[in-house]
Amino acid sequence: MMKWTVPLFDLHFGDEEKQAVNEVLNSKWISSGSKTAEFEERFAALTGADYAVAVNSGTAALHLGVLGLGIGPGDEVIVPSLTFAATVNSIYYTGAKPVFADITSIEDLTIAPQDVIRKITGRTKAIMVMHYGGFACAMDEIMEIARHHGLGVIEDAAHAPGAIFRGQHLGTIGDVGAFSFFSNKNITTAEGGMLVTNNKRIAEQTRLLRSHGMTVSSYDRAQGHANRYDIFQVGFNYRLDDIRAAIGVVQLDRLGEDLRRRRRLAATYHKILAGLEGITVPFDDKIDISSNYILPVVLNNRCPMGRDEFRERLETGYGVQTSIHYPAAHRFTPYRALPADLPMTDYVVEHEMTLPLYYEMTEEQVGYVCQALKDTLAAAAPSMDSDVERGVLFELKHA
Ligand SMILES: Cc1ncc(COP(=O)(O)O)c(C=O)c1O
Repeated sequence: MMKWTVPLFDLHFGDEEKQAVNEVLNSKWISSGSKTAEFEERFAALTGADYAVAVNSGTAALHLGVLGLGIGPGDEVIVPSLTFAATVNSIYYTGAKPVFADITSIEDLTIAPQDVIRKITGRTKAIMVMHYGGFACAMDEIMEIARHHGLGVIEDAAHAPGAIFRGQHLGTIGDVGAFSFFSNKNITTAEGGMLVTNNKRIAEQTRLLRSHGMTVSSYDRAQGHANRYDIFQVGFNYRLDDIRAAIGVVQLDRLGEDLRRRRRLAATYHKILAGLEGITVPFDDKIDISSNYILPVVLNNRCPMGRDEFRERLETGYGVQTSIHYPAAHRFTPYRALPADLPMTDYVVEHEMTLPLYYEMTEEQVGYVCQALKDTLAAAAPSMDSDVERGVLFELKHA
């Protein structure tokens, strides 16, 4: 593995997680039980949701969220293409058809409400938004569109623990919210997820479906509470275990300091990179209400070099690790045949680059990464041809 001068991400872990895991191991109840229930209660308190149901991945939470809205074959769900493939896959699992909507602009990489309206048909059942990087989608407009057309709203809040929009936690504004605790997220349990909702029926159905559709859990049976069960509906094994839930509870305690630190670092990035020719830093006005899960930049029409070359120079010349969020979902094999008139997404998937951001990162490291960016830009000769060519796309905005 390459040793980076500044890696993209690093885990925020301590002895407390190890101790919490040991306590569960010593208790001899390691599958879903009281720790999972505690994690759910704590997560409901954090988000203000009436119900929080723990599952073993963010993808499982999304899948159960789509099922919670009664979506299935013949239905359509509008979804951004600029997201992780799991967002779209979760619709596909149910037999429903994902319908791609574009993003707003290179400053706002979330789903464009105007394009959502254009994509509504008689089959549309829901809008699935994704709060990119923990930055809120245009939820006022999305909720208004949903109300007007009688659609459900599923929030992919995988990036968004601790992120607030007009006083409401992201994930709790629509009908269902899905969080991920994969290892690179703000809160991690290695693998894990949480569905939040204020809808009792959806919460109850989710609890059943995460465990085979069984009416009684093995924890209850072990406690001697019940011996018989029915399979109410064909379900899944999407349970979280108490080992991971125990990590999650400790990670929740760390979230406040994680958010404060990321906000400071993101603010420093934005300050240093403001006005730098060639680079647009999206979401400039939303750092304070975001979880700042990632720090995306978009190479705009004044950038003298392509994204892949830029990344290569940062990596080999400066030891700065970068990433891409995301390749377009609509270009993946299963979705390639679907209609996709997505000019902003097509631009951003070729020009976005994610810079390092994590709790342990220092202000000096942010300064180093920004200087590496500036030096790389200064060393490259501008090409007028590409300015003109890209300028056309740059004008496009779904506002
Ligand atoms: C936007 C988004 N949605 C869904 C997921 C799926 O979560 P998981 O990996 O926990 O299944 C992830 C992350 O992995 C994600 O980034």
